[in-house]
Amino acid sequence: MPRNFSSVGVVGLGAMGAGIAEVFARNGVGVVGVERDSEQLARGRRHLEQSTGRAVARGRMSPDQQSELVGRITFTTSMAELADCGLVVEAVVERLDLKRQIFAELDHLVRADAVLATNTSSLSVTEIAAATTTPARVVGLHFFNPAPVQALCEVIRTILVAPDVVEDVVGLVRRLGKSPVVAGDRAGFIANALLFGYLNRAVSLYEAHHATREDIDAAMQLGCGYPMGPLTLLDLVGLDTAHEILRTMYRQSRNRLHAPSPALGQMVAAGLLGRKTGRGFYTYAAPDSPQVVGDDETPPSADRPARARQVGTVGLIGTGSAAAGIAGALGARDVEVIHVGTGRAEELSRADLVLDAGADDPAAKRAAFEVLDARCPDAILATTGSLVPVVECAAATGRPEDVVGMHFAHGDPDGPLVEVVSTVVTSAMAADTVRSLCARLGKHAVSCGDRAGFLVDALLFPYLNDAVRMLETGYATADDIDTAMTLGCRLPAGPFEVLDSLGNDVALGVQRALYAQNPEPGLAPAPLLGQLVTADRLGRSTGRGFREHGR
Ligand code: CAA
Repeated sequence: MPRNFSSVGVVGLGAMGAGIAEVFARNGVGVVGVERDSEQLARGRRHLEQSTGRAVARGRMSPDQQSELVGRITFTTSMAELADCGLVVEAVVERLDLKRQIFAELDHLVRADAVLATNTSSLSVTEIAAATTTPARVVGLHFFNPAPVQALCEVIRTILVAPDVVEDVVGLVRRLGKSPVVAGDRAGFIANALLFGYLNRAVSLYEAHHATREDIDAAMQLGCGYPMGPLTLLDLVGLDTAHEILRTMYRQSRNRLHAPSPALGQMVAAGLLGRKTGRGFYTYAAPDSPQVVGDDETPPSADRPARARQVGTVGLIGTGSAAAGIAGALGARDVEVIHVGTGRAEELSRADLVLDAGADDPAAKRAAFEVLDARCPDAILATTGSLVPVVECAAATGRPEDVVGMHFAHGDPDGPLVEVVSTVVTSAMAADTVRSLCARLGKHAVSCGDRAGFLVDALLFPYLNDAVRMLETGYATADDIDTAMTLGCRLPAGPFEVLDSLGNDVALGVQRALYAQNPEPGLAPAPLLGQLVTADRLGRSTGRGFREHGR
């Protein structure tokens, strides 16, 4: 008979534990919530009241329902009160010794048929299970932050667990209205293994002053439709948790890209743990508050718009659909455009800014910029390409300071985001002029240095590549990986859906460029990606990619 789990225990009522308790209580399950002392217990109760209070404020729950929900939870500092629970979920800090000690205690405390679950996101479930005399009843039950919102639960199956325990927990997750994905016991499981490499790269870009924290976050929100930027998400998750997850992943994978970025370690050492302490990458109104305060990191040149040159006429080179789209976008904002194909640069001589949206290969770019330099001596020269470094275009001219990148994210002139790329010699005036043109177009401009992938591609494609590698190892299916990323992190699409839509050939090209600039083994294109491209399985464009699409 399947277990029905009418009463559950939650050990640890931090942000995750309180969220997990709320999930159960919302679904009519009685909860015993345990904390180590009365102060922590009060904080756990506060978490719950705040979280359900939001729902009341938004009219999603009545005050009566709120008190009924909170009334289903018994708050206690005594583990002994867990004795009658059919399931206990542990959600304390990520310390193996502590978790093993709690499991050893629970093992003797609860009924013989009770299930023990850990919400660990970085430690080995098997090692935790091995601290009990009954590892067959121990599983991982991994919720995502905020637990009441994220629809995914990873159910972690160790080699020791009994199949009926996994089945019953999967059934319970479904009854809670969440989607279970079952995975083996590996560092990071599915979602964190893909998410945290990406978050770590974002920290590295920030640490290298490639862009401001606001621009890194805006790039992923606007460029990929993510609900939060990576640095804001790290603040939500907790920098200590992130650091621990990455350390564990690195220990297991030996992939240097998983080694926590030094900035992360320093922030943890300094007690800047994110929202929970009131300061991480951003500063918050108070500990646990979501409200960002202070503008201690002004985006470059936001206070110096006067440096931008007036742009009356834009010259545009290119015959493709992107160039046509850019011409349309400029025209729609009443910007005069002189649009030429290739080879008629003399017509551009009166343009204030020339945008080269022509072929994105080194020889073509060099030739175009040489000609533009001669024919348009007073214009700012911009490239919309992403595969040729902007500095190569600049080096083809006698005035590299006037050359800048203006990259429409995913090459889509209709999208909301433009990356304004400065080389080591680009003048502030040139970059400001492009930013001000973006503002006229109603686009959000983010500024970054001239590194392969700029911002969006540098963060997106290695994550997609990691997903392909995960698929190659057989650890998870494409469907499970897509589900984990969309439901665990509320991404608008899973990695394989994204790859099929952007094109595996595009992904391979970007990944090769990233790897060429930074030959880290972890950045090498996944072999499967190359094989799919060779087999003409490019995605939607050829009707077949990771999935069948039909033309
Ligand atoms: N508790 C309860 N409900 C919450 C909540 C919380 N802490 N935070 C937000 N919500 C609810 C709101 O009440 C609101 O619900 P309604 O639409 O029913 O009113 C909804 O979520 C949306 O919230 P907001 O409008 O306030 O804010 P938003 O739209 O900006 O969403 C967010 C906030 C839900 C956090 C969203 O930005 C998001 O999903 N971000 C991605 C989070 C993510 O990736 N999580 C996974 C991290 S990895 C992890 O957790 C694993 C690990 O092991 C560390």
